[in-house]
Amino acid sequence: MKKLLLILLSSVVAMGVVAQNQQPAQKNTSVRIALHNSTQQNQIIPREIYGQFAEHLGRCIYGGIWVGEDSEIPNEKGYRVDVLEALKALKIPVLRWPGGCFADEYHWMDGIGPREQRPKMVNTNWGGTVEDNSFGTHEFLDFCELLGCEPYVNANVGSGSVEEMAKWVEYMTSDADSPMANLRRKNGREKPWKVKYLGVGNENWGCGGNMTPEYYSDLYRRYATFCKNYSGNRLYKIACGASDYDYNWTDVLMRRVGNQMQALSLHYYTVMDWGRKGSATQFNVDDWYATMGKCVEIETVLKRHCEIMDRYDPSRRIGLLLDEWGTWWDEELGTVRGHLYQQNTLRDAMVAALSFNIFHKYTYRLKMTNIAQMINVLQSMILTRDDEMVLTPTYYLFKMYAAHQGAEYLPLHFESAKLRDKNRREVELLSATASRAEDGTITVSLANVDVENECRVTIALDDDKKYSVKGSILSAGTIDAYNTFDKPNEVKCENFTSFTSEKGSVEVVLPAKSIVSLTLK
Ligand code: AHR
Repeated sequence: MKKLLLILLSSVVAMGVVAQNQQPAQKNTSVRIALHNSTQQNQIIPREIYGQFAEHLGRCIYGGIWVGEDSEIPNEKGYRVDVLEALKALKIPVLRWPGGCFADEYHWMDGIGPREQRPKMVNTNWGGTVEDNSFGTHEFLDFCELLGCEPYVNANVGSGSVEEMAKWVEYMTSDADSPMANLRRKNGREKPWKVKYLGVGNENWGCGGNMTPEYYSDLYRRYATFCKNYSGNRLYKIACGASDYDYNWTDVLMRRVGNQMQALSLHYYTVMDWGRKGSATQFNVDDWYATMGKCVEIETVLKRHCEIMDRYDPSRRIGLLLDEWGTWWDEELGTVRGHLYQQNTLRDAMVAALSFNIFHKYTYRLKMTNIAQMINVLQSMILTRDDEMVLTPTYYLFKMYAAHQGAEYLPLHFESAKLRDKNRREVELLSATASRAEDGTITVSLANVDVENECRVTIALDDDKKYSVKGSILSAGTIDAYNTFDKPNEVKCENFTSFTSEKGSVEVVLPAKSIVSLTLK
């Protein structure tokens, strides 16, 4: 019996799996990149994988993006100049708006015409805040033009009518001599906008109407029928998808809606326990690993939703869009309840890195993701306080990873040491991804999840070239480091030089709790 136990124990250690708190010292790891993959078709990482989400929630729109033309905060036609410039550097491909739960209470006609005449409403989902509708369709679509990104408009199914949705599409995209196009012209916009992405409801299994998948499928078919392609604009219609582990929702939608949708959405948050989410800034090493465990569980979730979609749609015509994801912590003390304001530490950046490393693998089906949310809400890029602005660790991670946008996904092969977190989830201590841009530049991003030990990685490429390498790193002295308005540079991207390049390989030493991106030319 004792002998059997010893054998079992030694085989567990050999696999690199250790129990919680017993961290293995990182060994040398070899990462092989297959540059010439003859069996697989080129898989491109759509730019939209790096999408954003801005809801009428807390200070995401008001105070975050929009301060109005009369504000003392420097603005361009009402948009904060500091925020706009910082966002441009992220090369944002797509922005989802106006919600979230807000979408299914939003009536777009309240947000057009002279601002002082727009009716007010109460934002019942998010703190009962009064919404004055000063940021509406024109303000959003013009903002997307300024940012140079695609708009993703999420329309109202839960409390809106088919007519209302159909007219919104006409208002935004038609160039005809038609009632809605003429109303748009009257409101100051002569030419229609291009609006590709149209969401037909949000979380209709919950805040969007508490519907069954069968009922929603029928509604989707009806609403989508009346959303037309005007004046050369081609809509990409997105059906409301499942939350996390609700595989039945995906199954029913695929069966009953099928080809009537271009994509199906999915929401997955890195949240430990909806009742006790935990502090964004006060946590220990066990919490760090538990967060990573929950974060990487998205791989199982994506895989299962993809498998269901594959059964109904083997040619992969219908996209899967993860249009809400990210960390969700307790709201910061002293902030308005329901505004979901949270700080953002190195842990959040690590979550983003592990998430993207997984997302890239599934881009054969996964066509867009939208982190929740862009400014001042949940896992944001930017926090603002009056006229001040601070960039979060997640912002820097998005900037580091921008090189993967639109590049060819390169499969990696490696074995990582693993541990079990306090919830018995398995966490690999090394996470990595690679892609090749059109000009041949290879970007390799490596995340060392280990909070104590550095990790020596040999990147082996199946060619003879000696690459010229440049690197950047995101790390900090402690796992809970974050940027504040007083200390805005505690966590930021820095130059990284801890590597050597030989013919066909690059050797790199990753410090503990760090994310490194290398460009190989
Ligand atoms: O992102 C915050 C909220 O989370 C969204 O409004 C909703 O769709 C989800 O439940």
